[in-house]
Amino acid sequence: MAQRPDDPAPGAQPDAALPADADDQIAEHRYGREPTSALPAASHPIAHWFDARLPLISGFRREYVAYPMPRNLNYLWNFGAFTTVALAVLLLSGIFLALHYTASTSLAFASVEAIDRQVPSGWLLRSIHMGGVSMFFAVLYVHTWRSLYYGSYKSPREVLWLTGMALLAMVMAAAFAGYILPWGQMSYWGLVVATNAASAIPVLGHWLAGLLQGGPTIGDASLHRIYVLHFVMAFAAIGVVVLHVAALHITGSNNPTGVEVKGPRDTIPFHPYYTTKDGLGLAVFVLVFAILVFFLPGWLTLSDNYVEANPLSTPADISPEWYFAPFYAILRAVPSKLGGLVLAVGSILVLFAIPWLDRSPVRSARYRPIYRWLMPLLLLSFVLLGIAGLKRPEGLWLAISRLAALYWFIHFLVVLPLLPRFERTLPEPDSIAGGAR
Ligand code: HEM
Repeated sequence: MAQRPDDPAPGAQPDAALPADADDQIAEHRYGREPTSALPAASHPIAHWFDARLPLISGFRREYVAYPMPRNLNYLWNFGAFTTVALAVLLLSGIFLALHYTASTSLAFASVEAIDRQVPSGWLLRSIHMGGVSMFFAVLYVHTWRSLYYGSYKSPREVLWLTGMALLAMVMAAAFAGYILPWGQMSYWGLVVATNAASAIPVLGHWLAGLLQGGPTIGDASLHRIYVLHFVMAFAAIGVVVLHVAALHITGSNNPTGVEVKGPRDTIPFHPYYTTKDGLGLAVFVLVFAILVFFLPGWLTLSDNYVEANPLSTPADISPEWYFAPFYAILRAVPSKLGGLVLAVGSILVLFAIPWLDRSPVRSARYRPIYRWLMPLLLLSFVLLGIAGLKRPEGLWLAISRLAALYWFIHFLVVLPLLPRFERTLPEPDSIAGGAR
């Protein structure tokens, strides 16, 4: 029988009144749902016995099967799942690479060459790990941009946002360290740039550079530290992903309207609706990933990194991987080592403060006529910074990187707090399922 728009979706939670404020909304979401005992019980007696003592099965059912999701999520909400899968692929392929890698300056390059040429399917493993990093950052940046566009960081989701930012910082540290490991020219000189930048920090700089280097110069101790940093950050990220998703399940997902879920008419259960939608998205994700791995291995990495590190020969240009290029462009946008470092680090730190910088009462850019045009501008400035970061810092590209960096800071420090004073927002719908007010 066809479902009428007013009918609660199958598996939806019981009707609930609109909570008064954000804290009530959290409590409503957490405690207003079906108790675990009301969900289908674990069918097998052993599963039932186990579940009574450690409710993993019913917990999974509550959080991933019957879990009420807003009914109107678009495909941009697939990117959290993509990010999770990409991280899992990186961790798994990383474990197998570690079986063959040697963290010593005299053997690292040769061990990576051996993985590519001698280890059975080693080329595939390496291609998956390297392509996986690019896929990971591509989907992570879309995931973050989606959260910005729809105001998913606003109350009551601030902690969710902060755990996301912590993840961003951790995976950036892991990726930076990972790029040093093959001990190619870019690895070595990238580490030189990083330690130089760190040493520009007043008071703490030399201590910090020493901590990274593990001695007065770059050598074996540095590579060991970088290796440890790489896998510690990567595996610690799993714990923070758990916190991230836990925080998400406390507040519930935002949605393209930015209007909170108000009752069963607004929700559908995670399974089968979003398992199917995520599954379809993941099929496309795997296809793109496979093209990258099998047809374009090495497309996104710099050929200089296939030349062994040589401290006596500086490459003509030192460039980072594409996913760090926007921040590298900011680092070089000003003619001062310390100034560039402050701006580059500041361009990431400012993101942590977004929930408190944005003063607009309206979440979704859909109902913010000016802001919705500034979001593509922010995206454009990020892309331009990315291109500028891969070019020499001179002429037109230097000017572009300065302008784009300026807009980056203006967007977060001026537009977010001040635009709401002038912007006349459009009427939001009363509820997700209902029409416009
Ligand atoms: C390892 C990195 C990350 C993983 C594995 C991850 C995973 C996820 C997953 C699975 C979801 C639910 C599905 C979705 O809404 O797309 C989610 C939601 C969310 N994530 Fe992340 N995430 C990561 C990094 C980030 C970062 C860097 C941010 C930005 C600071 C962020 C902010 C958010 C927000 C605000 C939501 C809720 C979105 C909404 O309900 O509208 N995440 N994340």
